[in-house]
Amino acid sequence: MTTPDATGPARPFQDKTVAITGGTSGTGLRAAERFLAGGANVVVNGRSAERGQAAFDVLEAQFPKQVALSIADCSDYAQATRMVQEAVDAFGGIDILFSAGASGAGSPKPFADMPPDEIRDAVMTRFVARMYPVHAAIPELRKRTGSCVVMLTTDAARHATSGESMIGAYAAGIIQVTKVLARELSRDRIRVNTVSMTLTAGTRSWEKIFGNESFEKNLFEKAIARFPFGGAPDAADVADAVVFLASPQASQVTGQTLSVNGGLSFGGW
Ligand SMILES: NC(=O)c1ccc[n+]([C@@H]2O[C@H](COP(=O)([O-])OP(=O)(O)OC[C@H]3O[C@@H](n4cnc5c(N)ncnc54)[C@H](OP(=O)(O)O)[C@@H]3O)[C@@H](O)[C@H]2O)c1
Repeated sequence: MTTPDATGPARPFQDKTVAITGGTSGTGLRAAERFLAGGANVVVNGRSAERGQAAFDVLEAQFPKQVALSIADCSDYAQATRMVQEAVDAFGGIDILFSAGASGAGSPKPFADMPPDEIRDAVMTRFVARMYPVHAAIPELRKRTGSCVVMLTTDAARHATSGESMIGAYAAGIIQVTKVLARELSRDRIRVNTVSMTLTAGTRSWEKIFGNESFEKNLFEKAIARFPFGGAPDAADVADAVVFLASPQASQVTGQTLSVNGGLSFGGW
């Protein structure tokens, strides 16, 4: 049990190292800012050196010596392992892994219209890229006290959404892995939780969806009109939930998937 304190400690992540896949944009980047402000050292990861350097420069200017950059594609196990090693080289270990980087190849479309390659690629780019860094980081997480994993998924796992058959399937897989890993890793006192997103502003996915006329723009515009609290959540809203789940305030929370969906939907599993 933590000491009652409405605000919690000012720097809850002091002396902690956080590795964030997909930390160079969207939710990962917003979470990086929050962990840094909370005192952590943070390794941000993405595939593009150019985008990565741009994000690193902004963070480093605000939080000097607390940030490192690792350029790696987490859908490749060797690269995910290198990302983990680079975090260890930079700051001596990993306390928190936030697995956020897994931009899917292909876009939502009816299953019957999906080229077969997109079915395979959905698994590799969305699910495998989420899981490889978690697997690669476990030996380092085991060396630390109070370590944890937070992953991202989407509410397409919880509610049948036309056009999101494969996205819903990968996302449901992450919810189940969260529960199983939480059980398996409890013996190492490593917590495992997931935040489930919906359509989220302030991300590249959002820009991609609403940038052009498309099946998905048409699909999601209808959803946007239904958000009850003045619009869709943004990446900062999702990052707040991620940081909570990684914080000492959540030290008794594991195996859970928390939806940050702006009140768009309820239920599911
Ligand atoms: N935004 C939404 O509405 C929404 C809804 C549901 C789920 N999601 C999921 O949430 C996650 C975060 O997305 P976001 O929208 O917050 O961020 P985003 O703005 O789309 O940024 C994605 C980040 O992940 C990195 N990345 C992508 N694939 C990677 C890989 N294979 N290995 C390493 N890094 C990778 C990107 O950098 P590089 O491009 O340089 O690699 C970038 O830093 C994604 O998996 C996304 O599919 C998003």
